[in-house]
Amino acid sequence: MQQRISAARGVRGSIRLPGDKSISHRYAILAALAGGASRIRNYADGADCRSTLGALRALGIEAEGRDELVIRGRGLDGLRAPAADLDAGNSGSTMRMLSGILAAQPFTSRIGGDESLSRRPMDRIMAPLGRMGASITARDGKYPPLEIRGARLRPIDYPLPVPSAQVKTCVLLAGLYCEGATTVRESIPSRNHTEVALREFGAALHVSGGVITLQGRPALRPLELDVPADLSSAAFFLVAALLLPDSELRLEGVGLNATRAGLVDFLCSMGAGIRVENRREQHGEPAGDLLVRGGPVRGGTIQGELTAQLIDEIPVLAVLGAASREGLVVRNAAELRIKETDRIAAVAENLRRAGVEADVFPDGMAIPGGQPFRAGCFDSFGDHRIAMAFSVAALAAPGESVIENAEAASVSFPGFFDTLRRVAR
Ligand code: S3P
Repeated sequence: MQQRISAARGVRGSIRLPGDKSISHRYAILAALAGGASRIRNYADGADCRSTLGALRALGIEAEGRDELVIRGRGLDGLRAPAADLDAGNSGSTMRMLSGILAAQPFTSRIGGDESLSRRPMDRIMAPLGRMGASITARDGKYPPLEIRGARLRPIDYPLPVPSAQVKTCVLLAGLYCEGATTVRESIPSRNHTEVALREFGAALHVSGGVITLQGRPALRPLELDVPADLSSAAFFLVAALLLPDSELRLEGVGLNATRAGLVDFLCSMGAGIRVENRREQHGEPAGDLLVRGGPVRGGTIQGELTAQLIDEIPVLAVLGAASREGLVVRNAAELRIKETDRIAAVAENLRRAGVEADVFPDGMAIPGGQPFRAGCFDSFGDHRIAMAFSVAALAAPGESVIENAEAASVSFPGFFDTLRRVAR
């Protein structure tokens, strides 16, 4: 599917973005393992979080309702063997997180996904789950589909070899089933929604200096939850506002967890006019309204720990970098090459189509600033964040641009194009 996007002078108004994708996955999974019915409002409506619900239903969990999703948890030992292969669709989170639970079941399951997910490495979860006692086979030793033979798992002490919240979550979820304490050590902090949610659901968890220790076999309690709006979806609108001078936008109730909110600090460090109002916190997850005004930014460097924090926002920050005064440098981001697509290659190719030069490295890119966008035909390469990042670039390109394979946006944000058109002037 194609989308046509015309240049705009600004984005104006107020928007309520879909629920946070990362938090939604975790709430759904933990609700399924709790003893009783949880109610979740503003559950992310994208295909990824529907994949998680689909898999949970196939494991015998009732989940229904749109405005308020009700998940009837059956306790840690209440899952049933699925009648068919589980389908994670495009969602790496679904596959990697659920594998932690499947590894502890008294049955064998198979979990697969679409073409993009089938090219993403799963050895990063197979290694710790193998040490815990599960036996998992994969295509060519590391690619989906996975066949997971569950076992009585033993706790491990696991230093994360890659800064990945999905791997951390997989090990912690498997740790729920162990007698004793499971430890995960991270040298670079990754998003901590799992730790926050586990505590809320009643697990005993200790976190100190990158060492996370979980006591196994907790009785999880059902909860009433509100998912904050997704900061990673907000990023597209923040950048659109900054690119277009006649912009004033309010993004309501956006999640501002400290392990994600580095995005706002980074944009402000470049001179962006962003204010946070109505700060609040629900179930350990902070949120607030973001007010952003149009205006040029300086540019900057994303490297080290910041790269891990901003990993999902780098495609749209690259777009902003081209328009900034001093440009953007991204390093230590080799992980981008194994996301839904190779995001370094996809960004560089679309920038080229927009008439923007960039130097590409194995682990990042350097985009000189002060480069205007040319209207063009951009390709999502089947990746939601690439589709949305270059829709934002298209707003700043005189004339009309085309986004090919635009339907990819619905993986995290089904209403993206309608919302963009509603606020564009
Ligand atoms: C996510 C973790 C990150 C991120 C992904 C969501 C999560 O992936 O890129 O979009 O919800 O835990 P990695 O764990 O591979 O870094």
